[in-house]
Amino acid sequence: MSDFFRGRRLRRTGTLREMVRETFVRPKDLIMPYFVVDTPDQNMKKPIASMPGQYQLSLDMLEETVARAVDMGLRSCLLFGIPAMKNETGSEAWAEHGIVQRAIQRLKSRFSRLVVTTDVCLCEYTSHGHCGILDPAGQVRNDATLEILAKTALSHAQAGADIVGPSDMMDGRVQAIRATLDENGFQHIPVMSYAVKYSSAFYGPFREAAESAPQFGNRKTYQMDPANGRESMREAMADIAEGADMLIVKPAGHYLDVLHELRQRCDLPLAAYQVSGEYAMIKAAGANGWIDERAIALETLLGIKRAGADLIITYFTEELLEAGVLA
Ligand code: PBG
Repeated sequence: MSDFFRGRRLRRTGTLREMVRETFVRPKDLIMPYFVVDTPDQNMKKPIASMPGQYQLSLDMLEETVARAVDMGLRSCLLFGIPAMKNETGSEAWAEHGIVQRAIQRLKSRFSRLVVTTDVCLCEYTSHGHCGILDPAGQVRNDATLEILAKTALSHAQAGADIVGPSDMMDGRVQAIRATLDENGFQHIPVMSYAVKYSSAFYGPFREAAESAPQFGNRKTYQMDPANGRESMREAMADIAEGADMLIVKPAGHYLDVLHELRQRCDLPLAAYQVSGEYAMIKAAGANGWIDERAIALETLLGIKRAGADLIITYFTEELLEAGVLA
């Protein structure tokens, strides 16, 4: 008998390896983000330079794109709207016939089983690009913003959204949204909160895609400091106490410690958001032939699941479904 561990015994054949495999990325685990633009144009599919393979879509093209993805096994999408008009309060965010509201209606009327999730935030809708309304000194007003976020979430639910996902990082927004949904007969609509959202340079490409870069300053007074791990648990526990049904950790790849710890500390379903910068870096190295892009994409998603995510929001969803490489 040998006196050392023979780990290779269970790696000898593909079938053996499959039998002892612990983690899987399945189609039902993935949520695909889409950017839908309020435009009179039909047939618009405008490439996003920093996110190869991702597009700003007109409503008709969104429907067509989602139709293909649903055929390939897409279960859920996350919608971001780019309004025709921005103002100080971001009023297009909760407009009855706003772009996201119309997109929800359109998708739900055709794909009733698709889980349509929405990003509830104001930065794409405000002229200043911040995630809330401002006081005269240019600071984001927390409590005054809550009301607007709640109105926005309600308008998404009224349009038929299955899940609302607040990403603004105002304190108390889960409670405000939950209360407004409940008062209006939407007790059954879950809140998936971006509980742990860092102030990250990895969002750079997204801000081009969503035309949502802040016009002055940055988001450090509301999004978290990337240096803080313990604080993420306080943010998560606060959102649970306020009634969140699911939590998001964002970004994903460089925050696996946070995801792992949160998995130990709470029983809610957890989602991780592999954000635009994470996607862009893999795409860029892949385009240069420096890495095997698909293998790396799959490996990053496996890592995120292994760390504790139940769901992953990723721009790779469509192409991995199409490639048929998911378990
Ligand atoms: C809106 C929002 C952002 C992202 C998702 N929702 C940008 C930000 O906070 O600046 C980023 C997603 C990505 O980078 O893919 N607040």
